[in-house]
Amino acid sequence: MGIRGLYEIGTDDGNIGPGVFFIPRRRKHTLPHEVLAVIFTFAVAQHGHDEPGFLVKHPSMTITHTCRRWREVALATGNLWTDIVLTFPISNEQLSRTVTWLLRSKTYLLDILLDFRDPDWDWEDEDTHGFRWADMEAVLQLLLPSAARWRTFELRTDTWAPIFVFLLHTRKVGSSLRTLEKLHLARCNTYFASKGRLFEPVMLRQHLPLFGGEQARVPRLREVMLTGVHIDWSAPPRMNLTKLELKYQAADVMPTVAHFTQILAASPNLEVLEIVGSGPQFTAVVDGASSIATHGEGGEADGRALRGTIKLARVTRCTFGFVDVNYAVQLLALFNLPALRELSLQDVSASLRHQPPDDAGLLIDWLVTNADATHGTSISPHDAVGSTSACTSRLPLRQLRTLSLHAIYAARTKFARLYEASSGLTALCLYDVCDGALEALEGDVVPRLETISACGVDEELFTHAVERRGAALKSTYLEESHQTFYRKLDRT
Ligand SMILES: *[C@@H]1O[C@H](CO)[C@@H](O)[C@H](O)[C@H]1NC(C)=O
Repeated sequence: MGIRGLYEIGTDDGNIGPGVFFIPRRRKHTLPHEVLAVIFTFAVAQHGHDEPGFLVKHPSMTITHTCRRWREVALATGNLWTDIVLTFPISNEQLSRTVTWLLRSKTYLLDILLDFRDPDWDWEDEDTHGFRWADMEAVLQLLLPSAARWRTFELRTDTWAPIFVFLLHTRKVGSSLRTLEKLHLARCNTYFASKGRLFEPVMLRQHLPLFGGEQARVPRLREVMLTGVHIDWSAPPRMNLTKLELKYQAADVMPTVAHFTQILAASPNLEVLEIVGSGPQFTAVVDGASSIATHGEGGEADGRALRGTIKLARVTRCTFGFVDVNYAVQLLALFNLPALRELSLQDVSASLRHQPPDDAGLLIDWLVTNADATHGTSISPHDAVGSTSACTSRLPLRQLRTLSLHAIYAARTKFARLYEASSGLTALCLYDVCDGALEALEGDVVPRLETISACGVDEELFTHAVERRGAALKSTYLEESHQTFYRKLDRT
């Protein structure tokens, strides 16, 4: 007799391998140390990085507090100690625990999560926030010596100062970040994405180079998420990304179209692109006044000249969130995404201005008439980025499988056109949309639809729309108001 079960363990190259374990029941303590260590590793890998009470309930702590032998084995097993988490308010206990974990983790790669948001902060004055410049310096002093072991790094703040300190003090470690795979910097304040809002605090507006800029070596960095965080866009590290997110930025600190294009051209393997709020600047904002940007021959204000100049052959998933419909059209026209399968369109102005969203009819018309311009040549997924052969905007609606619409308001006929053009859809998500989006789902539109989910829409209309489609359609209805929906967005 014994214990039988399945385990999954992380291997050195990051793969998860399934296996079977069998523990013979004999005398106490006959389980070899190595097997015990594998089981502990399994327990830790199952634990979510972001669960509430993460530290108190961390399995490594439970294991070390069980018995002397377990403690000895656990302390000798470096990969049980690689989750480095610090949260507001920072205590000496947290700092000393971090020192201990960094030591115990030996040479294993680290997953770092720093969450310095204060749920009680009033959003008024950044200087009154409880997490300050000096606190961030103290944290970095502990973490920087292990920069060569960072695998994932996530920093969430309410205010700008800690992000500034991070960018300032990581300028020198650009040559050590050889194992970094994922970076997420978030100043979680959606306010700056509002139309016409400029970056604050002005004193710290300076564009600091990420990890020191072009000299940085980040060969394994694949995912970069910048939420309300700007860097020196003209000299980013050389990054070969599969995922890029730019969200909730103030428009005046965003890159010019030329720099934006360069950044994307450096990542021909990009698969996921999310832009919410402000994207690149077609015109530069100088001291609050608009002027035509001088970068790029011919002037970037002329959107037509730039149509389809950003070709990303492998992008399958794309999210565009906008505060201005005209800007959204200008931005989308830059792209040629021949492999697109999932598209999400979000009007974020409603959540920011607390008023109804703009009429997105213009955007839908543009998508339907221009975005799917077919040209005889077939596009191989290996075509170079920005190749000049096919400079046509292209967001092929016909091959979309998933479409998500968030707070999109337009006439019912516009939605009908959109659905007709997206005839291959198998999944549709409608969040906080107007009634027309549901009413347009009649007859035989989107015949291959398999799932539909909705949130914050009229329940009766939704039920009718689902019933009209027959029993094969799987539907999910979530009752949530705008407020909860966006609060959730803000906090993720
Ligand atoms: C870029 O990343 C992909 C995997 O995401 C990899 O296959 C490719 O070799 C990388 N290219 C360079 C130049 O490092």
